[in-house]
Amino acid sequence: MSFQSYISGTGSYLPERILTNADLEKMVETNDAWIFERTGIVSRHIAAPTEATSDMAYGASMQALTAAGITAKDLDAIIVGTITGDQIMPSVACLLQARLGCRSIMAFDLAAACSGFLYGASVADQFIKSGMFRHILVIGAETLSRIVDYTDRQTCILFGDAAGAAVVSRVAAGNSSRIYSSHLGSNGALGDLLSIRGGGSRTPFSQEVLDQKLHLVHMKGREVFKSAVRSICDRAQEAMTANGMKVEDVDWFVVHQANQRIMEAVGQLLNVPVEKQLHNIRETGNTSSASIPVLFNESVRSNKIKRGDTVLMASFGGGLTSGAMLIKY
Ligand code: COA
Repeated sequence: MSFQSYISGTGSYLPERILTNADLEKMVETNDAWIFERTGIVSRHIAAPTEATSDMAYGASMQALTAAGITAKDLDAIIVGTITGDQIMPSVACLLQARLGCRSIMAFDLAAACSGFLYGASVADQFIKSGMFRHILVIGAETLSRIVDYTDRQTCILFGDAAGAAVVSRVAAGNSSRIYSSHLGSNGALGDLLSIRGGGSRTPFSQEVLDQKLHLVHMKGREVFKSAVRSICDRAQEAMTANGMKVEDVDWFVVHQANQRIMEAVGQLLNVPVEKQLHNIRETGNTSSASIPVLFNESVRSNKIKRGDTVLMASFGGGLTSGAMLIKY
């Protein structure tokens, strides 16, 4: 017996508070024109002080469950891609398992930074294809505002908070929607380009960690930029080649919203017409693992991505990690 999987429903959550470029001008030496020209970002959403990653993930999950036409009791597993869990233990996935009222199912977080959603969706795909599970909730959720240094103008302009969710389900007879394949990669040798060094087992929390801001994101922007373009293109090309497809066969490209110029460079290198490239970075900034599922969900709800469309998702992030997934929605 062979099984296929597909995305049966999606959801997203953006916190209410908006941080604009004008707000950032009052916080660091920067200006709206510079930020927009170099990144394409105008504003980003920031979680309320009482809001944590699992709260946003819950909002996105409820929408995704409704869209998939199932309840939390139908879920066989929860996978959350995040690097900003509510706390080190328990995982966001376990917090959600309780809050959603699921059965005693498999639930875990995975750490693949901005590629977390595609890594999670790929794991879900395998569990469905093996015949073991029918419905898996996959989430990308980040409260990056808690790990961003708001005195570092190179990084604080980029990031925002959000959660995106998708239910990955077993395909029933007669349904042609499916996940064709996923292609994941990593390059740990370049891990230092984008890192949070303090607060782990190598350099546990201490006054020194706080003083040196080692618990916050450090980034070598230019090098990250180059590596991002290369790996997104490589993974996306692998996905098309593996399925005998060309750019013409893909209806929509959903690329991790890291920087408008990264997406433009990817679009040029792969020869993707601009009308096939979906974006929301202008209003969200880079939301790491939430970026792809949020953009995907918004595009479904605004009637751009429709059932039957072929969609290529591709990501890049800290690790360094990268991934692509080709689907028929
Ligand atoms: N406002 C104004 N000036 C700024 C600035 C800001 N927010 N940030 C940096 N600058 C200045 C720099 O100090 C530098 O000044 P100098 O020429 O006097 O030294 C100049 O602008 C150019 O800096 P540089 O870092 O080379 O700019 P850039 O074109 O590479 O853009 C990023 C910086 C961060 C926007 C860009 O490198 C980037 O987006 N990289 C990828 C980051 C990313 O996607 N990370 C997440 C991956 S998942």
